Amino acid sequence: MSPSSSGRAPEPTPAIGLSARSARVAPFLAMSILGLAGEREAAGMNVLHLEVGQPSSPTPRPALEAARRELEHGLIGYTPSLGIPALRARISRHYRETYGVDVPAERVIVTTGSSAGFVLAFLALFDAGDRVAVSEPGYPAYRAILEALDIEPVPVRLTEADAYVLTPGNVTRAAAGRPLNGILAMSPANPTGTMMGRAPLAALCAYARDNGIPFISDEIYHGLTYAAPAVSALECRSDAVIINSFSKYFCMTGWRVGWMVVPAHMVDPVERLAQNLYLSPPQVSQKAALAAFDARDDMERIREGYARNRAMLLEELPKIGVTRMYPADGAFYIFADIGDFTGDSIAFCKALLNEAGVAAAPGVDFDPVHGNRFIRLSFARSLDECREAVRRIGQWLGKR
Ligand SMILES: Cc1ncc(COP(=O)(O)O)c(C=O)c1O
Repeated sequence: MSPSSSGRAPEPTPAIGLSARSARVAPFLAMSILGLAGEREAAGMNVLHLEVGQPSSPTPRPALEAARRELEHGLIGYTPSLGIPALRARISRHYRETYGVDVPAERVIVTTGSSAGFVLAFLALFDAGDRVAVSEPGYPAYRAILEALDIEPVPVRLTEADAYVLTPGNVTRAAAGRPLNGILAMSPANPTGTMMGRAPLAALCAYARDNGIPFISDEIYHGLTYAAPAVSALECRSDAVIINSFSKYFCMTGWRVGWMVVPAHMVDPVERLAQNLYLSPPQVSQKAALAAFDARDDMERIREGYARNRAMLLEELPKIGVTRMYPADGAFYIFADIGDFTGDSIAFCKALLNEAGVAAAPGVDFDPVHGNRFIRLSFARSLDECREAVRRIGQWLGKR
């Protein structure tokens, strides 16, 4: 019946063909701020990009050279779904050299960024309705990917009393008497920069083992630490599922190449999933990633630059009134409490961008409960940019 014949407005038509699960997936607000920042720049504004978690340093030279060589052949095709054998072998060597653990190359799986590693791990390990403990604040894509797969994220609130990491105690409390099917931990963490020492990590791994559930460890920020080196979950539990990537330490976000280390019984299911979901990780990127291991000295210099940025921010932010922040022991983020200035981190970030030309990520991305009083600043930039960002934020806060 037409609206005119009934006299009533038509009922809104549900979008035909969209799944309920697609409606559940929240937007990644840091990426929305990046989009707005791009618009401001196109309109002539100078913007300092502290919103996205990506290094501003270029891809390491050996990686670029390897990619150029590969392009010369012109034959760019599929590779084995689990990755090229040379890269799997090189990653296996990395575990021996860095952590002193033996990981056969057959248990190393190359993925299209760690983002694909999560999908593969979750699909291989969990069924619809399963429950997985994740930290809050935490990386928002964990929640989004789990929910898209009909798996329930069980948020575990991180508190100062627990040194802002997952523990058997806070995980048990969050589970609220109902069984969990897995635990997903990260150290160093995004957005907080907090790290798990050997003893807390071993305790959590043991807790997962005692409960008969898999332990997934996102180690994407390994190598980017400022006090003690990061401990791999493989040092505590040989069947831990490790997710890692060339995006952060190796400054290769756009190449979309990462890796997993999985227990032997997971290799075949992950291979079948990878064959069907992605066919293979990108060939050129894998050759570049293999060569990136030869650029450790360059990577260390970049890390030293982050350490300088971090020290400057920890000293200067309190001087402009931003006095409370998470420890930032690793990764390249400051998760700062801006509760004295606003109760709406999205509006705060938009105004900071529009009025001061500083792009920051709203805390609600990472923490739906208390995130409105936080912003995340990425310091994977130059020292001058970080200094100028503090100056602009300080001036802007002073005028409000
Ligand atoms: C904690 C964490 N894990 C995973 C990723 C995904 O990285 P990629 O897919 O580029 O490897 C990110 C990106 O910011 C991250 O912060």
